[in-house]
Amino acid sequence: MSQIAELRCRTILDSRGNPTVEVDCLLASGAEGRAAVPSGASTGEFEAIELRDGGTPWCGKGVEKALAHVRGEIAGAVVGRDVFEQERIDRALIELDGTPNKGRLGANAILGVSMAVARAAAEECELPLYRYLGGPAARRLPIPLLNVVNGGAHADNNIDFQEFMLAPIGAKSFTSGLRMGVEVYHKLKRRLSEKKLSVAVGDEGGFAPDLPGSDAALEFMTEATADAGYRAGSDLVFALDVAASTFAKSGKYHLDGEGKVLDGDAMIDRYLRLADRFPITSIEDGLAEDDWSSWSRLTARLGERVRIVGDDLFVTQEPRLRRGIAERAANAILIKLNQVGTVSETLAAIRLALEAGFRVIISHRSGETEDHFIADLAVATGAGWIKTGAPCRSDRNAKYNRLLRIEEELGAAAAYGPLQM
Ligand code: PGA
Ligand code: ZN
Repeated sequence: MSQIAELRCRTILDSRGNPTVEVDCLLASGAEGRAAVPSGASTGEFEAIELRDGGTPWCGKGVEKALAHVRGEIAGAVVGRDVFEQERIDRALIELDGTPNKGRLGANAILGVSMAVARAAAEECELPLYRYLGGPAARRLPIPLLNVVNGGAHADNNIDFQEFMLAPIGAKSFTSGLRMGVEVYHKLKRRLSEKKLSVAVGDEGGFAPDLPGSDAALEFMTEATADAGYRAGSDLVFALDVAASTFAKSGKYHLDGEGKVLDGDAMIDRYLRLADRFPITSIEDGLAEDDWSSWSRLTARLGERVRIVGDDLFVTQEPRLRRGIAERAANAILIKLNQVGTVSETLAAIRLALEAGFRVIISHRSGETEDHFIADLAVATGAGWIKTGAPCRSDRNAKYNRLLRIEEELGAAAAYGPLQM
């Protein structure tokens, strides 16, 4: 009865108004699981390939080819299989695709099916997804990284760094941590409007004001934290996603907003100064995805006190993560399902990272849907951190709201934050 009977799929819209893939996995028992695929803007060069149709419909971003693969070849390989065989199904899809980057069938087609299979399996055994994926011990709610100031490729302003986040590390629970973050977010909005700065929001719900640079963004966040009655450094700390690959050109970093061109070592010095001035818990993609030696130097100089997070560097893929572990190029990894394209490979990357003592941050993409799979993934794996935007826009809040419900469901068993900070 736990056999997969049918795959259905369709185009839906993501939070940027672009088409994306949604898949339903129907079982012989009548149970079904549905999943939607997110999409990045500052995509890493080494990510699995998202298949887009090109041409004029949907401004070239249609996903009809990916959907046709789901209905055709992929359904042919998956229908009739036992839904509980997630790894076998994912492996069959990887082999069916036959390319190293899922470029033939499309990582969007493959991931939609892989996630829908996991959801259908959870439905079949009447378990919440976090329990199905994580087992009876899953009880750890993540610290939210709330992206309250947006720059870089996610906003139309002069801030070179892409994301400035609040991390309510001093909270006792996810619910109270989220509340703290929300309070600071609203105080920040008030401060920005008092200074006649824009409070229009970027792709991930954070504000996108025209500030002179990253120091100014962190100053505003420090002030807003105090306005809300919290201490920056103990109640809340800050996190950055620089997304440096987006402004790196042949070994140099072009900070156009600030009018500077820096080499890897000058960027590292800059992060040291920022970490001396502000309570920064993590720096993601501080350097470009191919600048491995600078990454190792950054980790050596700052890794003791700051989480050095590889996003575009690792693209959730085991081989790149293995290299990063061997070269001490980072001490943390950002996890995005669609960078690798299957649930099993995502879980394998998380396992490898945790075994190596790396911190793990489960992440959304800048283009999202109402699907909140990653909330369950964070609890299932006990990652202890989630990055899913500002507490604004329903595509972001779908994840936070799901975590609020999970914490309620877990009751006294719930824990907050990673086992090891
Ligand atoms: P993206 O941004 O989804 O546009 O890649 C998120 C990130 O860089 O972490
Ligand atoms: Zn990133």
